[in-house]
Amino acid sequence: MLVSAKEMLQKAKAGKYAVGQFNINNLEWTKAILLTAQELNSPVILGVSEGAGKYMCGYNTVTGMVKGMIETLNITVPVALHLDHGSYEGALKAMEDGFSSVMFDGSHYPIEENVEKTKEIIRIATEKGISVEAEDGVVGGGEVADPDECKRIADLGVTMLAAGIGNIHGVYPENWQGLNFEVLEKIQEKTGTMPLVLHGGTGIPAEMVKKAITLGVSKVNVNTECQLAFAAATRKYIEEGKDQQGKGFDPRKLLAPGTEAIKATVKEKMELFGSVGKA
Ligand code: 13P
Repeated sequence: MLVSAKEMLQKAKAGKYAVGQFNINNLEWTKAILLTAQELNSPVILGVSEGAGKYMCGYNTVTGMVKGMIETLNITVPVALHLDHGSYEGALKAMEDGFSSVMFDGSHYPIEENVEKTKEIIRIATEKGISVEAEDGVVGGGEVADPDECKRIADLGVTMLAAGIGNIHGVYPENWQGLNFEVLEKIQEKTGTMPLVLHGGTGIPAEMVKKAITLGVSKVNVNTECQLAFAAATRKYIEEGKDQQGKGFDPRKLLAPGTEAIKATVKEKMELFGSVGKA
């Protein structure tokens, strides 16, 4: 079922668990994530970055693929198709092309401009029943959000708010200081029932993720970890020479171990986030 992320995240916030956003890159990724969500009876968010959207031939192609799979694979759990770190123009296009959720990443604009642009995105999204994620504090740079600015953005009527608390995308460096729970607590106090989003889910220790969820995080984004799992499983298959045995070069065989590795990663994360059985 393709739905907005609103209801699933409000339920997660109230129930003190989180829904995983897993970024997709192609058919194998999408199929692996949808099948795992269905098997575990978990709600799920498919994240699409602007780059991945272009790679997959545009948002309309992605929407077609996801809707087709939901129907053919009998996926009955709630699925949101979400634009990840969308530009203003990207968010408008994704909404036009059938995405059920968009992130407008206005964190690099001065706060006034971020507010104005976010308002306009919300106006259009509300008409179409689409959920909107906004961001304060640049996540990629490990910057920390300002709780008062978070409150201001939350009050505009966004569905969910990503707030930088020392998290970064990709693999964390050895000397990473960890998540800033003090700031997270302040943001939670100011924003109340607003579902909070934790980007950069790859490599955050399980205990930190659990603590973040108890402090109001209801959506955790994971991308790099699925890519690493896919690459490692594919490398193993080739290094073992399996692509040279029989019809092992058939892409359906060649990509199968990587696809299974994505499924295992998604399962592990859904169990950690507590979304299993919550569809
Ligand atoms: P990772 O690649 O670090 O898991 O981050 C994913 C993310 O936050 C997507 O927005």
